[in-house]
Parts: sequence; structure tokens; C-alpha cells
Amino acid sequence: MTTMTKIHLTNIDKPGQQSLDKYRERGGYKALEKALTMEPLAIIEEVKTSGLRGRGGAGFPTGMKWSFVPRNTGKPTFLLCNADESEPGTFKDRLLMERDPHLLIEGMVIACLALQCHLSYIYIRGEYEFVANVVNQAIEEAYAAGILGASVMSKDFALDIHVHMGQGAYICGEETSLIESLEGYRGYPRIKPPFPAVSGFLASPTVVNNVETLTALPWIINNGGAAHAAMGTEKSKGTKLFSVSGHINKPGVYEVELGYPLMDFINNECGGIRDGKKLKAVIPGGSSVPVLTAAECVGVLLDYESLLKAGTMLGSGGMIVLDETTNMAQTLSVIADFYAHESCGQCTPCREGTGWAAKVLRNLLAGKGKKSDINLLLKIADMMEGKTICPLADADVMPIRSFLTKFRSEFEAYCTE
Ligand SMILES: Cc1cc2nc3c(=O)[nH]c(=O)nc-3n(C[C@H](O)[C@H](O)[C@H](O)COP(=O)(O)O)c2cc1C
Ligand code: SF4
Repeated sequence: MTTMTKIHLTNIDKPGQQSLDKYRERGGYKALEKALTMEPLAIIEEVKTSGLRGRGGAGFPTGMKWSFVPRNTGKPTFLLCNADESEPGTFKDRLLMERDPHLLIEGMVIACLALQCHLSYIYIRGEYEFVANVVNQAIEEAYAAGILGASVMSKDFALDIHVHMGQGAYICGEETSLIESLEGYRGYPRIKPPFPAVSGFLASPTVVNNVETLTALPWIINNGGAAHAAMGTEKSKGTKLFSVSGHINKPGVYEVELGYPLMDFINNECGGIRDGKKLKAVIPGGSSVPVLTAAECVGVLLDYESLLKAGTMLGSGGMIVLDETTNMAQTLSVIADFYAHESCGQCTPCREGTGWAAKVLRNLLAGKGKKSDINLLLKIADMMEGKTICPLADADVMPIRSFLTKFRSEFEAYCTE
């Protein structure tokens, strides 16, 4: 186990961390006190200097996103915290909210100061009711202590934060769909532009940020953007949480500096492959990113650029580790069923393509497939890619294409022809 600087998980295992008293005892809300003495634009500059990139999947620079928000439009600005966390393999935001809810609240208040936002929502996936209860309790405590409300820490700044529960739709994690859902409509993604920064929630300037992104802010304000930028690689700064599941000895949530070697991460941090088996493949960033074979994992570093160079993506950091016993055709079929189920149905290529691919795979597993089905699946992937309103269709294309090309013989073995 390495002794790396932790930004998010410093106090995650400490007793009573959910309470305001313990959070404060361990240095909590000091960053907010400091932020309250700063100009909003100075906070944005600090976040730009930090090199922090969005941890929800796309990796967009946070400070830059904030600077796109127009000022003095006469409309309110909204901050929406994306706590939908529905990507298979991803469970890092849950840990943060369940164990250290004030870290999120502090991060959100800092972001709201920077954006001059006075009303903010946390959109939590419907299945996380118990997490929402913890967060709501922390919000209540923050109101009672004057950290939220008409006068944040007795300063001339008002802020309300509310929790909104989703109803169990993966697509509501996509930012424009989240906004539609929060407005009370069906969670259909919107065509961009306009981008939410200009016209989002209630047609007003809106920033959507992931839980992990927001919980990095107290550390950045306390230690300075430059200290954050000193960690990680040239373009991937800071630390990243990985939620690790699958055939691993120690599944769980880990925080490592970006640029950490993937194989060291699996073997040292996560205790290696279960039951002394051999590694077969790794899905490094949630089910929607291309799978890496064991051979491809060697020498790869855990940062945005290195994973892209290796033909995959960092995504949400939902790492799924697969050993030699894994049936890749069954695994892909489960993934394809998920995307078919979660397609919102607005775009024909996604609505038809995800369902068609899932059906072909189920047929193949039932022993009713033909060899031509493999090329058919690749063709379906081509027909979906880049032709839809949101990237959910692409999220299905990437596992389909990578599983079929890298483990083709396993799919062929199912074919009767
Ligand atoms: C289908 C789909 C699902 C998504 N689900 C989530 C999610 O559960 N949580 C999240 O933070 N971002 C999710 N995103 C990414 C968001 O659209 C958005 O980029 C993110 O919340 C921005 O926050 P960040 O800049 O802090 O990363 C999803 C995107 C897509 C296309
Ligand atoms: S790509 Fe799929 S999920 Fe996204 S808007 Fe189109 S139909 Fe809906």
C-alpha cells in the first residue's frame, strides 16, 4: 500500500465523519472560510490553476466550464451536483456521500460562491435512498449551523441546497437529461448547443458537476491550485477515485495519483487477482469504455491520455477486473442488455440498435447464432456510432466493438454454422 496524498478519502474511515462536529474537528469548512474572503473570479482562477478535470466521465476542465457561464444575464445561475452514478462498475460517489457528506456540501458552497449561485440541487439516483438520507441529515445540520441559508457563515451570501431523487434511469446521469428530469419532465437528453452553461435548468446558466469533482474543491482552496497541479501527469492533474469490482482480492474504492501504473494498482493496491487466477481483461472506466486485454494492460498508466493511447478511456473510474474464467460473450451480453434497457428511445439508431445488438447476443448464447452474426453486430455498432443525440449509443458501441474484435474466437465458439 502506498502513502499517497489523499484529496477525497482522507477521513473516509474515521468514526463519526458524517457529523458536522467531527467534520469540523478534522479541519472541515476551513476552505469555505477562506473562499468567503476571495473574489468569485479568484476562486475560478484557482480551480483553473489546479488543472482539475470533471470526474463524471468526460474529463472536461472544471475551471474552464465555470468560466463559460455568462454573468449578469439577469437570470439566476444554478449548480447541479450529478450524483446519479448509474454506470455499471461505478460506486465512488456513493462512498463520498455516505461517509463524508459535509465534504460535498463544502465543495458545493465553494462552487456556488465562484458561480454566484444561490440555489443548488444534488440529483441522487433513486436506488441511493439511504445515501440521500445521510446527505439530507448533513444539509439539515449545515442549515442549523448557518453554513447554508440566508447568510452563509454570517456573510452576505444566500444559498439553498436541496436533494432531488431520481427514479432509477441511467440516462438521467447525462447532464441535459438530468436537467429535464429535475424540471419535472421525462429524462430525455437535449440537443446541444445550447450548452447548459448558457441555457440549462429553467433556461438559465447551469453548471453540472460530478460529486467527486466537487469534493476536490475544499482541498484545492486549502492547499492552492498549484499544489493540486503538482500531482499527477502533465495533463491529468490530481488524484482519481477508482471503484474496483470483479475478480479481485480487495474490491473497493481507491484513491491514487493520476498516472499510477495500472498493473501495480491491480496487484499492489487491490491485492491481485482472486484465487491465484490469471488476469484476462480490464474494463478501466465503467462498462461503456473499451475493454483491455491482459497484455494491453502492461505498461499502461491510469490517466486520461495514457488510457486514450491504449485505446480506451478513464471514464468514471469504474474498474471491472476479469480473470481467465470469464465468459466474454456472456459478459458482453449483460452489458448490451443494460444499454438496450436504458436507451431513452428518442433516436432511432440507439433505440433500435441497442435492442437489436442485445437480441443477437442473447440468440448467440442460446446456441442459435450464425458466424455472420459477429459481423452483423459490428455493423450495428457502425450504424449507431456518432449518429445520436447523446453518447449512450456510443457507450454500447465501445464494449461491443472491443469485445468482438479482441475476443472474437469466444463468440465464434457459440456459432452453430
Ligand atoms: C449516458 C450518460 C450517463 C452519464 N451518467 C453520469 C453519472 O451518473 N454521473 C456523472 O457525474 N456524470 C454522468 N455523465 C456525464 C455527465 O453528462 C456530465 O458530463 C458530468 O456530470 C459533468 O460533470 P463533471 O464535469 O464534474 O464531470 C453521463 C453521461 C452520459 C452520456
Ligand atoms: S442516444 Fe439513446 S439514450 Fe441518448 S438520446 Fe438518443 S435514444 Fe436517448
